[in-house]
Amino acid sequence: MIIDASLASKNNVVYMSAYGKIGQKVVVSEFGETPLDAVDRFLSFEEQAPPAPETLQPSDVVIAVQSAAVGWVDLLMTSGQYQHMPQPPYTPGLESAGTVVWAGSDAKRSVGEKVIVDGFLVGPRSKGAYQKYGGFASYVVAPSNAVIPLPSRLSFDQAASFLGNYETAYHCVIARGKLRAGETILIHGASGSTGLAAVHLAKVLGANVIATGRSLAKLEALKAHGVDHVVRTVDDAGGVARFRDEVKELTKGKGVDVVYDSVGGDISVESMHSAAFDARFLIVGWASTPFVAKGKGQRGAPNVNVLPTNLIMMKSLRVLGCPAVISAHQNPQLRVDRLRDLIQWVDEGRFVPATPEVFALSDIKEALRAKWESRFLGGCVVHPN
Ligand SMILES: NC(=O)c1ccc[n+]([C@@H]2O[C@H](COP(=O)([O-])OP(=O)(O)OC[C@H]3O[C@@H](n4cnc5c(N)ncnc54)[C@H](OP(=O)(O)O)[C@@H]3O)[C@@H](O)[C@H]2O)c1
Repeated sequence: MIIDASLASKNNVVYMSAYGKIGQKVVVSEFGETPLDAVDRFLSFEEQAPPAPETLQPSDVVIAVQSAAVGWVDLLMTSGQYQHMPQPPYTPGLESAGTVVWAGSDAKRSVGEKVIVDGFLVGPRSKGAYQKYGGFASYVVAPSNAVIPLPSRLSFDQAASFLGNYETAYHCVIARGKLRAGETILIHGASGSTGLAAVHLAKVLGANVIATGRSLAKLEALKAHGVDHVVRTVDDAGGVARFRDEVKELTKGKGVDVVYDSVGGDISVESMHSAAFDARFLIVGWASTPFVAKGKGQRGAPNVNVLPTNLIMMKSLRVLGCPAVISAHQNPQLRVDRLRDLIQWVDEGRFVPATPEVFALSDIKEALRAKWESRFLGGCVVHPN
């Protein structure tokens, strides 16, 4: 959408002329058996008229979405697997960034401001009246205290992918893992959205990073992000490689101080063998299977809910669950602290979020398949307008 700078006043509100345009939104009509089943059978488009001002609150803003992140959790939700989520029909898109095109008389943000929409308070992961405004749409309505000014160094695409990935990485690596300068961290799924954010934050802290993955091309690309070493986690037959030997060699026989496990399954056991005595083992996620909530495995992971207690005992491992969203609901101060640090660090240029791959919203199905297949370093976004 081209935002026209000509402004008009009406009913004590200000809006931009582009606001009148009919847009579109994605709708998930039913949960699928699997995420890809839902993408194939239950995902469609609907026209979206600009939200009528008389239906909005004085503290609301309307955002013309410029970019929306395609998240792993968006995929999970389509098959009914996430702790907070709407019932279908709903509009997916947990995170987005865009331009304010309408502001109510009590709104704290102005027309023309570039903002990030806070997925804790708006969209499918939130609770309440704003849950219906998912980011895979032309327009999102938000209370003005639920949008954050775009950090000046970030593009819309970087900003749409900023909060979820870096808040997760911060919670895992810093709040839970307490990673320190000079320590070594093994980061699985390092080419993924949250894994790459963990790489960036570990380097901000001054730690040594061993990044893992299956794809040689993506491991090579990770070197530009400051990782110290890369280790491939699959063998030639496609199974989990015995990577503990390589990790031990890289750490002079000691093993790593912290494991960031966003993949789960067989890789977790091999990671415990790669960990130092008394290491911290961070449970971040299960990219190796979409069925963890159902206690099932897929993609070679038999059951990601099982960890070997003998190794945990004998190596004195500290296994730490790291739910970034649930923890912030339990203790809101956690989120205040991490948002303050992350925005300051990105403003100072201490890390530079990757630029994600871009799809048009009309290609949302392909974008979700690309996310599912981990096709791109750092993930992808869609452009509605
Ligand atoms: N703790 C939290 O609060 C929190 C918050 C957000 C997300 N998560 C979870 O974190 C996980 C990762 O999310 P994400 O958005 O970063 O996903 P992503 O962008 O898809 O990245 C996952 C990475 O894992 C690797 N991977 C995928 N399947 C694998 C397999 N079978 N074996 C080995 N590696 C595999 C891929 O790297 P290669 O292709 O290079 O191997 C991929 O880049 C998800 O389970 C998500 O639910 C947790």
